[in-house]
Order: sequence, then C-alpha cells, then structure tokens
Amino acid sequence: MISYAQCWEDADVLLEALDVRPGQHCLSIASAGDNTLALLARAPAQVIAVDCNPAQIACLELRVAAYRALAHGEVLELIGSLASRRRAALYRRCRSLLGAQARAFWDARPDDIDLGVGAAGRLERYLALFRDRVLPAIHPRRRVERLLRGGTRTEREEFYDREWDTWSWRALFRVFFSRAFMALAGRERSHFRYVDGSIAAHLLARVRHACTALDPADNPYLHWILTGAHGAARPFALRAENFGTIRAHIERLQWHCLRLEELLARLHPDSLDRCNLSDVFEYMPPEQHEAALRALRRVCRPGARLAYWNLLVPRRRPESLATRLAPLVSAAAHLHARDKAFFYGSFVLEEAV
Ligand SMILES: C[S@@+](CC[C@H](N)C(=O)[O-])C[C@H]1O[C@@H](n2cnc3c(N)ncnc32)[C@H](O)[C@@H]1O
Repeated sequence: MISYAQCWEDADVLLEALDVRPGQHCLSIASAGDNTLALLARAPAQVIAVDCNPAQIACLELRVAAYRALAHGEVLELIGSLASRRRAALYRRCRSLLGAQARAFWDARPDDIDLGVGAAGRLERYLALFRDRVLPAIHPRRRVERLLRGGTRTEREEFYDREWDTWSWRALFRVFFSRAFMALAGRERSHFRYVDGSIAAHLLARVRHACTALDPADNPYLHWILTGAHGAARPFALRAENFGTIRAHIERLQWHCLRLEELLARLHPDSLDRCNLSDVFEYMPPEQHEAALRALRRVCRPGARLAYWNLLVPRRRPESLATRLAPLVSAAAHLHARDKAFFYGSFVLEEAV
C-alpha cells in the first residue's frame, strides 16, 4: 500500500540545506520520489534512493518514467497537480519504461491512475476525507479561497484570527487530527509509538504559522490539503524551470527497495556527500536512531551533510556522536521557519566532521 503518494517535505528547504554541488554523491529516502528527483536538478554524480516499502519505490519509478516519456504539463496531469481526463493514456506512455514489479503494481491500480497518482496514498486519502467531509462543515469554499489568496502579514493575521480560527475549526481539527483518529484512518499506529503530548495542539500551532507568518498564496502543500491540487506555486520538482535539468540527469538515479540500515551496510566508507533522510529517525527507538546515524557517518565523507525532519518526536545527533557530527543549528532553524510543509516540529541539519 502507498503510504505517501507525494513528498510532504519542502524540497526548497532540502535543497538549500544540502547545497548539493555538481559531481557529489547523494543518498535520499525515496518516499513518493519528488524530493529525490529534485536533487538531480543540482547535477550530482549520483543519487541513491532507498525505501523499505515497494509501493513507494513504484511511486518513484512511475515518476522517473513520466519525466522520461512525458512533457512537463503531462507529468503535472498524471500526478494530479493539474486536472486531466486522460491519465490512463498518459500512464500507457510511461508503462514500457517501468520495471516488471512497478508495472504490475500500477497495472493493478487503474483507479489510482485516474485519480492522479499524487492522490493515491494513505495520507493523501486521509487529507481528502478532511477536505471533503470535515472542512465544508466549518468553512465555506469562498473562505478557503480567501485564506489561500494570502495578503500582507497583517491581513493574514487578521483574517486567521477573526474568520478562520473559530471554536468549531479548533474543535473539529482536534478530533480529526487526534492520535486515535489519525492512527485509525491515516497514519499507522506504530508511527506514534515515540510521541509525547497532543498531536492536534502541535499541528494547530503549525497551521497558524503557515497561514500567518508564511503566505498561503505560495504554499503548494497547503493548497493541496485544502483544494486537492497545487496552486500556481508548485513543489520544486514540478516547476517548469526544473523539469529539463531533472530529466537531463535522470540516468544518475538508482533505487533500492531496502531498509536504510541495510543499504548503509553495503556502501563503502567515505562514499557519500549529501543525505536526505526524510523523517525516518522518528519511526525508530533512540538506540536504533543512534546506530543508524553512526552507520551513516561511516559512509559519509568529512563535510558531508545530513538533513532530516522531526514531525513530533525530537531526534538529533546524540552526545555520543558529538565528535563525528556537528549540528548546523542556526541554518536549520532559519530554514524551519520558512518550511512550507509546515507541520514538522523541527528540521535538523548536521555536518560530518
Ligand atoms: C519516513 S516516511 C515520512 C513521510 C513524510 N515525512 C510524512 O510524515 O508524511 C518517508 C518514507 O520513508 C520510508 N521509510 C521509513 N523508515 C525507513 C527505513 N528504516 N528505511 C528505508 N525507508 C524507510 C517509508 O516507507 C516512506 O516511504
């Protein structure tokens, strides 16, 4: 089953944090593929994608085939960023470029293709339920459109406090994004094993930040959550200006359906420069996080960078690795403040020393 049909991590933050240089060697958690593809725009020598879920690898493979076989606007249609009635035909043009497993995976899911492959994950279906069933009971369409038009910071704050942040918004949001309901309908229960405190309270504070401190008008993630499509602003890999460079370097991408820890055991010491680690550490107990970081440090060259997010569980390099990894605290905090995928509690950037 697809957990994430899109990458819900801000690729602009990732690219600025990692500062990938031409010729470098990158590792990236595949997830749905968007941010892994975004790294190719910086002309690295190699991007190694890894994910333990074969459905996520199928998402990455379909995107790779789409970048090869389709024009930019057609990729947007296939993903669902633009409306389309011809997704089955677009898929047929990509199909022959897929490996046997990914082809069988997508052949068995014509409904997901019709829906737009970026809407087909468990998380995206949960967000669609919120958008279609819960949101209309609180805010009419025109108020959602008003929110997404943004404005000056003062206008955004006034609108949010006076019209959006009502008692019913907070109450229904708390129910829908409560731990029990998320575990039942959206995220897997195991994802919350290491979480303390109220998920909904954390998320409500981050929503306020995204709607007031940041401008909703240029936030593709918020647009998708509230409308089911990206607005005029798109995530990095889907922007027209990045399409050609990603496609030009697509042969430099390889992927593996493995756990990160298994892949690291196969890599040579001092072979990586940049690592996009999504928020995988959050799913691990502290001792496993420490072991994975240690294994990562072994395969990283001095000066290599590791970027990762924490949604709800604080994970950063432990003291035992203080001489091996240096946190770039202020750069990470600066990037977290303008992270358009606003729900994360923190963003971590660490450098191999
Ligand atoms: C960590 S999840 C998080 C996605 C996104 N940040 C979110 O919370 O909505 C991203 C991807 O990591 C993969 N993943 C999780 N733990 C992993 C591991 N130890 N090794 C390889 N992939 C892993 C999952 O299958 C998923 O596709």
